[in-house]
Amino acid sequence: MKKVAIKVDQVVKNYGNRTILDAMTLDVFEGETLVILGGSGSGKSTLLRLMMGTVKPNGGDVVAFGKSLCGMDEAALEDYRKSVGVLFQSAALFNSMSIKDNVALPLREHTDLPEENIDIQVTIKLEMVGLREHGEKMPSELSGGMKKRAGLARAMAMDPKILFYDEPSAGLDPVTSAEIDELIMAMNKKLGVTSVVVTHEMDSAFRIADRMVLLDRGKFIVSGTPEEMKASEDPLVRQFIYGLTTGPLTDRKRTGGYERQLMGEV
Ligand SMILES: Nc1ncnc2c1ncn2[C@@H]1O[C@H](COP(=O)(O)OP(=O)(O)O)[C@@H](O)[C@H]1O
Ligand SMILES: [Mg+2]
Repeated sequence: MKKVAIKVDQVVKNYGNRTILDAMTLDVFEGETLVILGGSGSGKSTLLRLMMGTVKPNGGDVVAFGKSLCGMDEAALEDYRKSVGVLFQSAALFNSMSIKDNVALPLREHTDLPEENIDIQVTIKLEMVGLREHGEKMPSELSGGMKKRAGLARAMAMDPKILFYDEPSAGLDPVTSAEIDELIMAMNKKLGVTSVVVTHEMDSAFRIADRMVLLDRGKFIVSGTPEEMKASEDPLVRQFIYGLTTGPLTDRKRTGGYERQLMGEV
């Protein structure tokens, strides 16, 4: 039996009178790379934030490593948030700090480790992402891809069991984006880190995924291996993964039903 790392259990998330996630259920298994697909505004980032414990559901629960996030007090939630790694779109490095200091920051903030231990940890993490020689540099001296790698080193600083990536290759050229994919896979395969990756780049999704889910109108409509997704006959899945210009997604937009639904009118 595969062990469940995170269980999203009948989660409802509303913003105002709009239901973004509608009784959503999802298991993330330990050690897998799960890719979450979905149109822009479909709730992918919201779902990640729910799993990271930074957004609270209006209904249902998120159970992470056997513990209910809804049942946790603020201190326990804070500990949980420290135990997960996060790499968002903008690597969100502090521009006034060297790369080394950026990676050291979570360790300095959240642990009592002496500086020499922190230094070793930082060197290991920078080596892992191929930036060991660049630790003294400032973020402004790095390319977009190197900044993402530095962000990944920082996300790994506390040795998380699970890493959340929100569109990690957004804004990168295809070669750099493929390099980031390699790193995501390396973290997963070499270190056994469970990875949840939101992306809308299909090449990347098919490269890294053990399993994929497609989010639409507040629910998952399919889940499967990359091969199963490619073989799917569902018109929506086909339109999404092959980027077709005609299909249910575009029909919905054309008739305005999509907007009306987003506004909570249908
Ligand atoms: N804090 C918020 N307050 C109000 N609406 C929000 C908030 N965060 C996200 N939304 C809305 O929820 C929907 C889903 O957002 P998001 O999860 O960011 O989608 P995705 O990442 O799939 O593009 C969007 O329509 C967005 O405008
Ligand atoms: Mg998003």
